[in-house]
Amino acid sequence: MEATRFERILVTAALPYANGPIHIGHLAGAYLPADLYCRYQRLKGRDVLFICGSDELGVAILMRALEEGTTPQAIVDRYHPMIRESFARFGISFDYYGRTTSPVHFETSQDFFRRLDAQGFFKLKTEKQLYDPEAGLFLADRFVRGTCPVCGYEEAYGDQCERCGTSLSPTDLINPRSVLSKATPELRETTHWYLPLGDWQERLEAWIATHPEWKPNVLGQVRSWLQQGLRDRAVTRDIPWGVPVPEDVARRHGVSAEGKVLYVWFDAPIGYISATREWAQQQGDPEAWRRYWQDKRTRLIHFIGKDNIVFHCLMFPAMLMMHGAFVLPDNVPANEFLNLEGKKLSTSRGWAVWLHEYLETFPPDLLRYVLTTMLPETRDADFSWKEFQQRVNAELADILGNFVYRTLTFAQRFAEGKVPPLRNPRPVDAAVLAELASYPERIGTAYEQFRFREAVQETMNLARLGNKYFNDTEPWHTRKTDPQACANTIHISLQLCAALSILLEPVLPFAAARLRQMLRLEGVRASTPERTTGTLGWDDAARPLLAEGHVLGNPEILFSKIEDDIINQQIAHLEQRAKQTPSQTNATPYAPLKPEILYSDFDRLDLRVGIVQKAERVPKSQKLLRLEVDLGFEKRQILAGVAEQWAPEALEGRRVVVVANLQPRRLMGLESQGMLLMAEDREGRLVPVTAESEPGAVVR
Ligand code: MF3
Ligand code: ZN
Repeated sequence: MEATRFERILVTAALPYANGPIHIGHLAGAYLPADLYCRYQRLKGRDVLFICGSDELGVAILMRALEEGTTPQAIVDRYHPMIRESFARFGISFDYYGRTTSPVHFETSQDFFRRLDAQGFFKLKTEKQLYDPEAGLFLADRFVRGTCPVCGYEEAYGDQCERCGTSLSPTDLINPRSVLSKATPELRETTHWYLPLGDWQERLEAWIATHPEWKPNVLGQVRSWLQQGLRDRAVTRDIPWGVPVPEDVARRHGVSAEGKVLYVWFDAPIGYISATREWAQQQGDPEAWRRYWQDKRTRLIHFIGKDNIVFHCLMFPAMLMMHGAFVLPDNVPANEFLNLEGKKLSTSRGWAVWLHEYLETFPPDLLRYVLTTMLPETRDADFSWKEFQQRVNAELADILGNFVYRTLTFAQRFAEGKVPPLRNPRPVDAAVLAELASYPERIGTAYEQFRFREAVQETMNLARLGNKYFNDTEPWHTRKTDPQACANTIHISLQLCAALSILLEPVLPFAAARLRQMLRLEGVRASTPERTTGTLGWDDAARPLLAEGHVLGNPEILFSKIEDDIINQQIAHLEQRAKQTPSQTNATPYAPLKPEILYSDFDRLDLRVGIVQKAERVPKSQKLLRLEVDLGFEKRQILAGVAEQWAPEALEGRRVVVVANLQPRRLMGLESQGMLLMAEDREGRLVPVTAESEPGAVVR
């Protein structure tokens, strides 16, 4: 980092979709590396702001709501607090965690859109798009599947083929199908705003060329997008869940804003700005966000997973360039994917380790450590429970925990629980102190360059050095043969522990705090946003921090070993859930809710309970049954389109709900005097309405 150019660092981590809980793949992709980086930078004494929040709008959320037969608001209200809590318990040290359904976000993203529109950057295109007449929805993004025109994969989504990675638009798909209903999509005309990425390709290329230092995996993807040639991208959608297209902007173009919202990949990255504004308000300094977004001396860094590269390296920067008032990212250290037990993580197939479940069994630090050692920094990595156990036992317990414990117990037993004096150090002692002096900078360089695996390795090397020194100097012998040599070993080992209690802080914040307590080391700066009076920071770990005679606390076991049966339980749990999950979560979603009605609309319906007295097929009709229904006060003839699913006898004698004031109509030459209510479930089965119908089933 060019220390001279930047005065502060703004760190963002991808806003997670609030449509499910956080799993280890999310953590390894963006949140843990971002947190390591921020904690390190805070210990360095730098001005850091760490921003994140829930991504609560768009198709992903709406889809989840339809699958569960509930509203998108209910979905985000369930997952947002859950995600926020689990991050907090895991020690992710956000300065602010917002959500994109907030009023500040609506205003910020609408203003952004308005400003780009006023400058004439958007292209408006009126085109025929796929529409599901049954669901009453345009089939944007993941609402449509079909065959990929590039690789022939039959399950490609409307926005992307998951097999070959090509970005698509719904009309590119061969043989498109609605995900929402079985209806065949129609083409309907609609107007959308397009971000003219094609026109900005050269400017984006020139800017990317100023960042040869970005990670090769990121530059590789960016270059391939640029090589293919950037295409204009629609940044509005016709769906009922999102930031509304501002009325005034639509009016300017003579277009109706009704039903139109901003594309989620337009509003969500603006969420970083909105959340920073909310943070500033919370600080009681509403303009403070500008320092971070509008001052060239801010270094902006986006932590993301590799599936978000195009949006953070090309689309959002293009938006920021067009807007003109904001800084561009200085780096986007995207990670590759984390697999689980050799298989791709999959939420829908239940193949994941959920953070909130993990935290029920283990302390946060163990997972923070193990994930840091295996971050998918340059290629996909694999998490396994056995490796988790192995690293906790062999590294945290046997190397780090052991060094700390033996040092503190020796101090307790042979130095009266105080830091003994260092006198006439021998070369072996001086060599260790000299080595210690080089660690903070070496580990720091790894952090600065986003090489977190290396950072944690180097940090553990300091504990290894401690163990080796302890073994080589044999204080259990020298305490009888040469008490000063023993004192020197304890003194220096304690200094190493003190240094570790700072250098471990990014990876193991909870254990590092306990270690400082055991050492009674005070005055270390917080690695979280909390304001503290501490002045000791990262660089101070290079020198001895404990004074001769300083009184120590009691030794404790920092990490206990994990037994086999605990790990086997986790593996069994994972496999069992993977078996249970499929049918439920891959189910077709129910139709979206129709627009709200007034009570007076409802009150015009007259619903009555009736008993089916007689049922028979209607000649020449595949679908219709003729029913005689007794409403108590009169008998009705009702024609019901259920013959394909119901044998006439099966309906006779059943109680049903009838719309009793529906205008009569003629079908196959017979008059139908009312309508039978049936609920249609996911498999398309029709069942007379009862309290036993499946939640979400559509009554019709
Ligand atoms: N919600 C997206 C995902 O989980 C990430 C959004 S990042 C933002 O893939 F920049 F758009 F906020
Ligand atoms: Zn494909």
